[in-house]
Amino acid sequence: MTALTIATVDITPARDRAPGPGPVLPRMLTGDRPTGRLHLGHYAGSLANRIRLHRQYQSFFIVADLHMLTTKNSREDIAGTGQRAADMVLDSLAAGLDPAHSVFYLQSGVPEVAELSLLLSSLVSVPRLQRIPSLKEMARHAGQREMPLALLAYPVLQAADILAVKAAVVPVGRDNAAHVEVARELARRFNRRYGAVFPVPALVPADVPALPGTDGRAKMSKSLGNAVYLSDPPDEVAAKVRRMYTDPARTSSGVPGTVEGNPVFVYHEVFNDRPAEVADLKERYRAGKVGDAEVKDKLAAALNRFLDPIRERRAELAADRGLVEELIVTGTERTRDEVRRTVAEVRAAMGLTTALAGFHAAARARAAAAVPAKPAAAVPILTETVRDRD
Ligand code: TRP
Repeated sequence: MTALTIATVDITPARDRAPGPGPVLPRMLTGDRPTGRLHLGHYAGSLANRIRLHRQYQSFFIVADLHMLTTKNSREDIAGTGQRAADMVLDSLAAGLDPAHSVFYLQSGVPEVAELSLLLSSLVSVPRLQRIPSLKEMARHAGQREMPLALLAYPVLQAADILAVKAAVVPVGRDNAAHVEVARELARRFNRRYGAVFPVPALVPADVPALPGTDGRAKMSKSLGNAVYLSDPPDEVAAKVRRMYTDPARTSSGVPGTVEGNPVFVYHEVFNDRPAEVADLKERYRAGKVGDAEVKDKLAAALNRFLDPIRERRAELAADRGLVEELIVTGTERTRDEVRRTVAEVRAAMGLTTALAGFHAAARARAAAAVPAKPAAAVPILTETVRDRD
């Protein structure tokens, strides 16, 4: 049976079902650590995919602030979480996520996920996690010489996020694929050992190559300072484009240039809505018949055409004070409800509730059978205390 077949099993609480008969939408979960404002790299790499998919599912978007702690945990890092989370959600909405189809939640507001993570951690070995390359990469990137325990357990916590909402599909980039694989293994192992609780989540690969930075480096990223943000004003976009790295061998507009891998043309390809213009620019660039200024001016114009409606919507949403915050609050509550239910199911499936339930029953039986308790011990102690004070 494939993951998706399992996922079609109705796991939706009645109150979430559409009225009347008809299939229930399976759940999708994805998200990010709270990095702040989103840039074109986020858009091309994940946001566009999310926007395309999210109406086909009950879509959950996590702001993974507990995952952030595995590499960034200073008081300042943590203090900035609220602002960065709100910015991310605002940008996502501005870019096209429909709040009617999206549940945004803050991971630390759902502490039951940590319990699930602990319970799942017995089902995976340390060497299995040590073999995941993205974790070593993250440790190195964070300047850690030794692997923090929480970072090693990063995929287990991510599996807990995914399984806690019983997600059927998880669209993520290449660096997260191995983590989803861990979630799949844990779901299968749990179900085999304790009973069928979890749908096995399917990975939806976001099959886009990373968008290069404005400096020509392989990846657009905030920390590299080579990003164009969805919220950058038009003149800032134009200025960033003017400074963009392009074919370094091209010393004047008469020299034939290379289009392949040239970030200016990569952006044209991804964001310019006028394919004929792009084809014409490429042809003239290769022939040495166009200046960089023209190619860049047209790119800035194209990016601004793309960003205009996003900026406009962002301004509208931002003017609606407290809207984003309210969405996060209701989304976190909604998710917490869901997760509480799952964790209760997990504890029951594992038989973890049996011992305490037995103790309760025995204690109740004793209370019911008991003769009234006599305060025998209290009396002499009290007397002595009084006498001591004299
Ligand atoms: N690991 C993701 C990142 O790189 C964030 C994340 C946490 C996530 N939990 C998730 C993504 C569950 C998808 C599903 O920031």
